[in-house]
Amino acid sequence: MPASCPVADGCVLSVHALPAALPAHAPLTYPRWRHWLDDPQGAGPEAPEQPEQQPEQPEQATLRAVCATGPGGDAAGLALLHLPPGLPGRLLSVMVAPAWRRRGIGSALLAAATRQAAAQGCPALTAQHSTAAAGIGAYDAFMEANGWPQAALMQVRGYGRAGWARTAGQTFARHRAALGRRGYALTPWPELTAADLAGIRALVASGAVPDGYDPMLQHDRDAPDLSAVLRRHGAVVGWAKAHWQDAAQTQAFYHSGWVLPDVARQGWLAVAMIDLSARQADLYGDDSLTGFSTDAANLPMQAILFNRFGALAERIDRLMRRTLPLPAAGTEPPPGLTAAGGNPPPCHSPG
Ligand SMILES: CC(C)(COP(=O)(O)OP(=O)(O)OC[C@H]1O[C@@H](n2cnc3c(N)ncnc32)[C@H](O)[C@@H]1OP(=O)(O)O)[C@@H](O)C(=O)NCCC(=O)NCCS
Repeated sequence: MPASCPVADGCVLSVHALPAALPAHAPLTYPRWRHWLDDPQGAGPEAPEQPEQQPEQPEQATLRAVCATGPGGDAAGLALLHLPPGLPGRLLSVMVAPAWRRRGIGSALLAAATRQAAAQGCPALTAQHSTAAAGIGAYDAFMEANGWPQAALMQVRGYGRAGWARTAGQTFARHRAALGRRGYALTPWPELTAADLAGIRALVASGAVPDGYDPMLQHDRDAPDLSAVLRRHGAVVGWAKAHWQDAAQTQAFYHSGWVLPDVARQGWLAVAMIDLSARQADLYGDDSLTGFSTDAANLPMQAILFNRFGALAERIDRLMRRTLPLPAAGTEPPPGLTAAGGNPPPCHSPG
C-alpha cells in the first residue's frame, strides 16, 4: 500500500498520528492547534511509519493530520482531526494554501478525513466555525458541495472587561452564598490532585461529557491560573478552562465550561464565571477581556450572559456546528462522502 496517494496536479495525501513533525503544514491550521505539528521530542523529520493494524497508544490514536503535499514538497493543504474511538469525531480544521485552491484538494482532504473517522468507529464527524471568521461564505459553499449538512447554531459567545465581575459579585452575593451552603467551591487548576485528574479523565472516557467540553483537549495552551474545577463538598462536579487569545495576555476566552447534569441549570457555572472573571481582574487587571460561551439550547444561560451580565455583550459571535453521520464500518458510504470530481484511492496511514 502506498505511503501517500495522488490527488491533483502532482499533489499527494498522507495521514499522520499527532504529535508529529510537520512544520511546513503548521501554518495551515489555527495557532491553537499548531503545537501538535511541532517537532515532538525524539521524533525525526516525520512520525515513524506504523502498520495500520498495530495497536496504538490511546493518546496517539485520537489526533490525526491529513496532509496534502505538492510535488516540490510544499504544503498544499491540511485537515486536523480528533477521533476518540467509538465517539463522534471532530474535524478541527481544514485549509488549503491559496495557490492550490479550487483543484479538489479540500474535497480530497474532507473525504480522507471522513474515511479516517469511519475507520476509527466514529458514528459521526462534526465541524465547527465562528460566524465572525473571514471567508465563511466560501467555506459554507465548500462544505455543501461535499455533501455536509447545513450548520446549526451551537454556542453564543459574549465578551466583556474582567472588571464586570466586581459588580456582578455584589449583585449575586446571596445566590453565591446559597451555593456555598450546598458545597460550591472553585479550585484553580494547578491545585488539582492526581485523583482529581484521574476522575476527570474517567468522566470524559465514559462519554458523559459532550463533544467540545473535554477539558484536556486544549490543555497545552490553557492558562492554568484562569482555569478551575467546580467542587460540591469536595468532589469535582465540573470545570471551566481558559486560554489567552493574544500573546500580550489581554484577552482570555473561557471554554469547556461544563457541570454534571444534576447540578446543571442551578447557577453553578454562572457563579463560577463571576469568580473566574474576578480572579482574572485581580491577576491581570479590570480592563483585560473575558469571553464566555453558552450552548445554543441553553436559553437561561444566554439570558444571564446578555441580560443579567450585560457587560459581556460588548462583542458577540456565534459558533456553528455541522454533523455528518458516518456509516458503520463495513457498510457502503452514502453519497457525499466521496471527493468532488472523483474519489481518490484510500491513503495509507503511517500511524
Ligand atoms: C474552504 C477551502 C478549504 C476549500 O478548499 P479547495 O481545495 O479550494 O476546495 P475544492 O477545490 O475541493 O472545492 C470543491 C467545491 O467547493 C466549492 N467551493 C470551494 N471554494 C469555494 C469558494 N471560494 N466559493 C464558492 N464555492 C467554493 C465549489 O463548489 C467547489 O467546486 P468547483 O471548484 O468545481 O466549483 C479553502 O478555500 C480554504 O482553505 N479556505 C480558507 C480556510 C477555511 O476557511 N477553512 C475552513 C475553516 S477551518
